[in-house]
Amino acid sequence: MNFFEATQKLKKYGQEHVLQYFDELTDSQKEQLLNQIDITDFSIIEMCKNKEEVATKGKITPLDAMQLDEIDRRKDEFYAIGMDAIKKGEVGAVLLAGGMGTRLGSDNPKGMYNIGETKDVFIFERIIKNLQDIVDLSGVYIHLFVMTSDKNNDSTVNFFKEHNYFGYEPEYITFFMQEMAPATDYNGKVYMESKFKMSTSPNGNGGWFSSMAKWGVLDKVKKNGIKWLNVFAVDNVLQRIADPVFVGATIATNSQVGSKVVKKVSKDEKVGVMCMEDGKPSIVEYYELTDELMDAVDKNGEPAYNYGVILNYLLSVKHLEEILEKEMPLHIVEKKIEYIDENANLVKPQEPNGYKFETLILDMIHLLDSCVPFEVVRNKEFAPIKNKTGVDSVESARALLKENNVEL
Ligand code: UTP
Repeated sequence: MNFFEATQKLKKYGQEHVLQYFDELTDSQKEQLLNQIDITDFSIIEMCKNKEEVATKGKITPLDAMQLDEIDRRKDEFYAIGMDAIKKGEVGAVLLAGGMGTRLGSDNPKGMYNIGETKDVFIFERIIKNLQDIVDLSGVYIHLFVMTSDKNNDSTVNFFKEHNYFGYEPEYITFFMQEMAPATDYNGKVYMESKFKMSTSPNGNGGWFSSMAKWGVLDKVKKNGIKWLNVFAVDNVLQRIADPVFVGATIATNSQVGSKVVKKVSKDEKVGVMCMEDGKPSIVEYYELTDELMDAVDKNGEPAYNYGVILNYLLSVKHLEEILEKEMPLHIVEKKIEYIDENANLVKPQEPNGYKFETLILDMIHLLDSCVPFEVVRNKEFAPIKNKTGVDSVESARALLKENNVEL
């Protein structure tokens, strides 16, 4: 793309300021910026302008979760089915590690965070150890696909290498990068992070499968006969990955997706809950849960929307491929975005200062036809690290790890 074409493109979206330092740049910086303008989709920013028109939900009805008592009763059956699939190499794992972890406030990828007290215990290490448990049980290595972003790919890959993949077999770990989206101020103007680079951020956790397809990782999945992908978040240090009972329950119930859920601690807990929306599985966010839904009860008098998602899903590759081309809604998220001020000095804001644009994995679930919400014991499987202190923090996760006899 040349300067003229770039100007035309930016004009269309009211983003001409992106080129304001162009004359000062070196040739390679000019090329870098023109290239970034070329590959950036500015049309998504138009969403800022009609932010009020938030997509409305369809008709919400309950989706029964498979609860602990049933899982306990059918444990042997599920375990046998799940273990069989794992032993046949039909289960792979996808670690979503492309996020910025802005709430935790560390410059490094979240997985590099050291939660140890008397020794090093990195988040990535915990995840690998949890996966290794199943490798030891099954005698079969499970392919792990790690999604990073332009911002954290090199440090993530190097960190794994430096730590010798925490004892995992490196040929079973594949890294791939997600796409980036421009980040803007509250008026929809793209921030610049340097004179020759627009501020961009990872485009959310909903694009992982299309990124796998884009980078040829899906070919590897298919070549290896992987039929199920267990996708999970980096920040839950008690995450059970490729859990045979969960895999077995998803297969036995003929579901296109299994979703690990925990019982809510209160009816207004800030967690997305599983439901049906217009007859398809879906997740209703806590801020979308009306009083009426919050107070609704099922036939046993239990709250009808009572099971929160923990970002651990098992999805059928075949059905994922069927929805590959489908469009996902974009979400506008308020975040802290680094930018250069009028003197071209880099500012690292302490509070949110603009918008990022993301697609979310929960919208993927709604594109599929059947889902089994699978209850897990919160204190055994859910220790998210989102914040520095308080709720879902390093402190709360440490306490839960100790409760589960993990040495820190
Ligand atoms: P969060 O929604 O908690 O976002 O991610 P985050 O970026 O990690 O943290 P904050 O909000 O800035 O503090 C949930 C999971 O989705 C992954 C994260 O790495 C985490 O595992 N994720 C999120 C991505 O892989 N890519 C993204 O663009 C966003």
